[in-house]
Amino acid sequence: MRASKTCVWLLSAFGAVATSSTSSTAGVESLVKRRLPSHANAFQFALEPSSHGSALTNDSYTVSSTRDGKIRIEGTTTSALLSGLHKYLSSEANVDIWWYIGSQLDQAPRNLPKLKSPLIGTSVVPYRYHWNTVTTSYTSAFWSWEDWETQLDWMALRGVNLALAWIGVEKIFIDVFTDIGLNDEEISSFISGPAFLAWNHFGNIQGSWNGNMPDNWVDDQFALQLQILDRMKELGITPILPAFPGFVPRNISRVFPGISLSTSPLWENFAEDLSADTYVNPFDPHFTQLQKLFIGKQQELYGNVTKFWTLDQFNENQPLSSDLGYLRNVSQNTWTALKSASPDAIWVMQAWLFSADSSFWTNDAIEAFLGGITEDSDMLLLDLFAESAPQWLRTNSFYGKPWIWCELHDYGGNMGLYGQIENVTINAMQAVRNSSSLVGFGLTMEGQEGNEIMYDLLLDQAWSPKPIDTETYFHDWVSARYGTENVKSLYTGWELLRPTVFNNTNLTVNAVPKSILELIPNINGLLGRVGRHGTTVTYDPAVMVEAWTELFKAGLEDVKLFGNPAYQYDLVDWTRQVLVNEFDGLYKDLVTAYNSSANAAEIRSRGSKLTALLKTLDAVLATNENFQLATWIDAARASNPSNTSFLEYNARNQVTLWGPTGQIEDYASKQWAGLVGDYYLGRWEQFIDYLATTKHSSYNQTAFYHKLQAWEIQWGNQISGKTSKATSTGAKEIQAVLQTTIKTWGSLFKL
Ligand SMILES: *[C@@H]1O[C@H](CO)[C@@H](O)[C@H](O)[C@H]1NC(C)=O
Ligand SMILES: *[C@@H]1O[C@H](CO)[C@@H](O)[C@H](O)[C@H]1NC(C)=O
Ligand SMILES: *[C@@H]1O[C@H](CO)[C@@H](O)[C@H](O)[C@H]1NC(C)=O
Ligand SMILES: *[C@@H]1O[C@H](CO)[C@@H](O)[C@H](O)[C@H]1NC(C)=O
Ligand SMILES: *[C@@H]1O[C@H](CO)[C@@H](O)[C@H](O)[C@H]1NC(C)=O
Ligand SMILES: *[C@@H]1O[C@H](CO)[C@@H](O)[C@H](O)[C@H]1NC(C)=O
Ligand SMILES: *[C@@H]1O[C@H](CO)[C@@H](O)[C@H](O)[C@H]1NC(C)=O
Ligand SMILES: *[C@@H]1O[C@H](CO)[C@@H](O)[C@H](O)[C@H]1NC(C)=O
Ligand SMILES: *[C@@H]1O[C@H](CO)[C@@H](O)[C@H](O)[C@H]1NC(C)=O
Ligand SMILES: *[C@@H]1O[C@H](CO)[C@@H](O)[C@H](O)[C@H]1NC(C)=O
Ligand SMILES: *[C@@H]1O[C@H](CO)[C@@H](O)[C@H](O)[C@H]1NC(C)=O
Repeated sequence: MRASKTCVWLLSAFGAVATSSTSSTAGVESLVKRRLPSHANAFQFALEPSSHGSALTNDSYTVSSTRDGKIRIEGTTTSALLSGLHKYLSSEANVDIWWYIGSQLDQAPRNLPKLKSPLIGTSVVPYRYHWNTVTTSYTSAFWSWEDWETQLDWMALRGVNLALAWIGVEKIFIDVFTDIGLNDEEISSFISGPAFLAWNHFGNIQGSWNGNMPDNWVDDQFALQLQILDRMKELGITPILPAFPGFVPRNISRVFPGISLSTSPLWENFAEDLSADTYVNPFDPHFTQLQKLFIGKQQELYGNVTKFWTLDQFNENQPLSSDLGYLRNVSQNTWTALKSASPDAIWVMQAWLFSADSSFWTNDAIEAFLGGITEDSDMLLLDLFAESAPQWLRTNSFYGKPWIWCELHDYGGNMGLYGQIENVTINAMQAVRNSSSLVGFGLTMEGQEGNEIMYDLLLDQAWSPKPIDTETYFHDWVSARYGTENVKSLYTGWELLRPTVFNNTNLTVNAVPKSILELIPNINGLLGRVGRHGTTVTYDPAVMVEAWTELFKAGLEDVKLFGNPAYQYDLVDWTRQVLVNEFDGLYKDLVTAYNSSANAAEIRSRGSKLTALLKTLDAVLATNENFQLATWIDAARASNPSNTSFLEYNARNQVTLWGPTGQIEDYASKQWAGLVGDYYLGRWEQFIDYLATTKHSSYNQTAFYHKLQAWEIQWGNQISGKTSKATSTGAKEIQAVLQTTIKTWGSLFKL
């Protein structure tokens, strides 16, 4: 597989971009001022570009203490400097910046630790990539600039130097479609709601339900994009901008008579009105015209900020024909259109389709499609789910195209403690050794949920020539997580989870699992699900309880921890997992009684255990704003004042029905206060009621669901009103809620 000649040529063709991102240390210095204002003068940065000129190279840094007591960081690029800074702060000063919890970097000791010997790091891949197109909907749909700032600092410090930049693209679509003469109604009938844009971008859906996208939401997002791109530049992150993928409003032929169009298949359970997107065949000259407008407009607005353009035509959209000539024709024309719009363009594509629809995408089909692009270096493929369903192995490294090894890990932002520590270390490094066209590691989670250690692990693997020793890694991660090395139980708790909860090796379940409590109640089919949204618990649940006990004990040992945001988050998260695991057994007891024709009183009595658990879980989650539906809804409402009801509807709909009537119901379910104690509780109460009043022989899931669905739709139309409800309680309240939980569920928490 090693073809070293192509390798050299290919890498040098890629080179200019990697090194073009920044040439000053100003961005790094600004980050330090932003996050560690009282240490602004404690650091010294020096950019020392590698001597390889324009060739694509691995990054490296050196961190050392100077004689006058400063921390000096030298690095080949901005990203290398930030990686060195992060290494120092997390491993020496025990501080970091986190999802949800935010930056704890200002907690660094007043006198920064001196280094006896320098910290030296070299990346094993030139690119560290972040983002999945759908993350822009599942996670960041309603983010403010403050949220973006934290995210971008998180990415930059973790060495990310290449990332999707989808925000605000609706402005580009609308401007281009308006320029060619489509009217407002024709355009707005195509654009989806703010929580569903990713699938509109993929051509899976079109249009919106229960209201239309407000124009000024689009303008606000565009303003946000300008800020994001500026900050990315400062932080040495090359943006990947959206190219025109071909999907257009249905009425395009009114303005382009005779244009050659095709229709995408129906997507999931959506009907034709909201799916079956129209697309321009890439061999039609209008495709090139639109691509030029689309890219030209962005270059005009953003400047020449990137060579990388993301373009997915067939993501969960099967092409019209599997004829190899057709596939090659489509890709070749798409590529030439892209190149005529921007001669140095590199086409970035999510290779998800190859694993999601492997019966269509045979090796021959993939080879034909990729073969249409005759310059290998003009493409960059994301092997999207490489830890579980790698495509590089079966395609001989995408037939020579550059590609990135990506960890997906999570679908729909589902929540459950989970990991495949061996795959993201050992298998990722096998790819470095065995594939000459591998150019990066990346994160492609559908939703940035929890399990942050699992994502950190891959980004740190990008700087380690050998598979990371996870025992040491977890230990060091815990020190930075809580900013203390003094509480042994913290380490014991995490070390219990490392070889079990975070080490799934039976890939029948291959991503973050769900709990059955988030699913439509049923007497069968809930437990033991496998695959991407498995409901099988992949470890002995007793381990989770044991680890929880250690974590809780840590707080009793050092009571300050109850006021530590990372500890608060993890304690809620682990308590959540213990309770959620317990739900399965209660459910089994209920259904077993029902199946053996227990009387209504018995059904209700067993059912009350399920509802009691949901109420307890809701109370625990409600102590932390990061586990609340209200946080998501507040963000949606706050994202724009023009139609807050519509924004709230979008927010509620995505995490429940996902579609007007449940087209992908529960796909993006969340274990959040407000969902658990309201929506899921409501569903289970109705189920228990149904069981108590329906003989086993008359059980009819369709009839039960029919009634339930009407209630679900009504729930989704609720409006919370103006007052924000998302808040975190203080340390004392958290302790009180946990004490109550432990008392109520005494046999579960073995203290
Ligand atoms: C980066 O480092 C890895 C691991 O040492 C090596 O295999 C690879 O060839 C290097 N890549 C470049 C572009 O130097
Ligand atoms: C599409 O065009 C037709 C006329 O060609 C018009 O009657 C119809 O209203 C247009 N559709 C939309 C959504 O504007
Ligand atoms: C954009 O910048 C790159 C790298 O700096 C350069 O090679 C390219 O020619 C520029 N393109 C345009 C259109 O200015
Ligand atoms: C692709 O197919 C179109 C339509 O059949 C044809 O006109 C065009 O020449 C083909 N292009 C290539 C590159 O094969
Ligand atoms: C993931 O790791 C397990 C061992 O932990 C191994 O059996 C499996 O082949 C790996 N899967 C992939 C896709 O690399
Ligand atoms: C990588 O290559 C080595 C030796 O060339 C081989 O033993 C190993 O199985 C390969 N691994 C993968 C995942 O291809
Ligand atoms: C993960 O589990 C497998 C199978 O039980 C075991 O062989 C392996 O040593 C474990 N790995 C780690 C890092 O704990
Ligand atoms: C893997 O998990 C599946 C589903 O839970 C189970 O049926 C199977 O026996 C497991 N395989 C191994 C080797 O443990
Ligand atoms: C209860 O009965 C249903 C069908 O009647 C069956 O599918 C399910 O497995 C049974 N569940 C239990 C726990 O016995
Ligand atoms: C505002 O939102 C509500 C609820 O989604 C919707 O019914 C209404 O049509 C929206 N108004 C506009 C102008 O889109
Ligand atoms: C189940 O309920 C549905 C909807 O109410 C009904 O159409 C169907 O006939 C019922 N099935 C049976 C077997 O009674």
